[in-house]
Amino acid sequence: MEKDYARSKGLPGNQPHENDYKKLKQAEKLPHDHEHDEHNHQDGDLKEMHDGHIAAGRIVGEVLKATEEFVKPGAKLLDIANKIESMIKEKGGEVAFPANLSLNSIAAHYTPTYNDETVVKDGDVLKVDIGAHVDGFVADAARTFCFNPDYLKLTEASKKALEEAIKLCRPGVLISDISAVIEDTIIGYGYKPIQNLTGHGVGQYIVHMEPTIPNIKHKSGKILEEGMVIAIEPFATDGKGHVKDTQPVQIYRVYGMPSVRGPEARKLLDMSLEWMGLPFAERWVKMESQFKIRLALKELRDRGALHEYAPLKEESNGFVSQHEHTVIIKDEPVVVTTF
Ligand code: CO
Repeated sequence: MEKDYARSKGLPGNQPHENDYKKLKQAEKLPHDHEHDEHNHQDGDLKEMHDGHIAAGRIVGEVLKATEEFVKPGAKLLDIANKIESMIKEKGGEVAFPANLSLNSIAAHYTPTYNDETVVKDGDVLKVDIGAHVDGFVADAARTFCFNPDYLKLTEASKKALEEAIKLCRPGVLISDISAVIEDTIIGYGYKPIQNLTGHGVGQYIVHMEPTIPNIKHKSGKILEEGMVIAIEPFATDGKGHVKDTQPVQIYRVYGMPSVRGPEARKLLDMSLEWMGLPFAERWVKMESQFKIRLALKELRDRGALHEYAPLKEESNGFVSQHEHTVIIKDEPVVVTTF
């Protein structure tokens, strides 16, 4: 995937067909009646879109706030994930991707297995990265819980970098200026940004799209445009500043409309349609046995229709902190995921 720094965190990426489900969904809808709209079509669509992101953002913000009550040493990651995902639904949203609960040197993309016994411990640094959608419009945000006094400053670094970046989220600002302020802020704390994780645009049934917002300096010349909706997510580390894939993969996405033969794969494909082709967790897949789940995943993988999101670990085992918000680009930036 492109240059190293441009490699996105990858909840849905740049693979082909990522819009198939969106198109399907839109085809099901009755044509939108714009005849009596005061504004032109584009303005109306933009407002509908922003309202969707704002509604999803409110849910994400409320849930992230509520995590303070149950994300504590002694809590099981599996219980935390289940709680987050059910709260999103209780609040009228849909889960845009499995709750990412990444500990210590894992930067992102860890979600518990169905029988995960991992417990948060004193000394841990836990990133909670969650997403909701309303009518497909995605909001994505993250915070870090630091249960280790040695990493409070590290946690502060990514938080401050995000705050500084948000101040620049206005039309006409160079994306490279945002990246520079992120890198400079984190380095100012004595740490490094993760160079191969980036912020990203969010859309309807798309968690990851253009523009890419690198966390390190670059010279792309791209600018933020009025009305864009982006997720900014600085990651800070005391390690080298580079993540690599690790195990166990628990987050997947089906893309395209593969033809499958096995009953298990067909069942999984149906579930994926229900999830609108968004990323899902293996623990969400309900089948008679783990063996059948493996079989379903294997067939989709063999047909090239399965994207797998491996947990991303800091290469030198550095600890990692992360903060993220979804923002609408305006003269006065709108942070939709505040809490
Ligand atoms: Co994100």
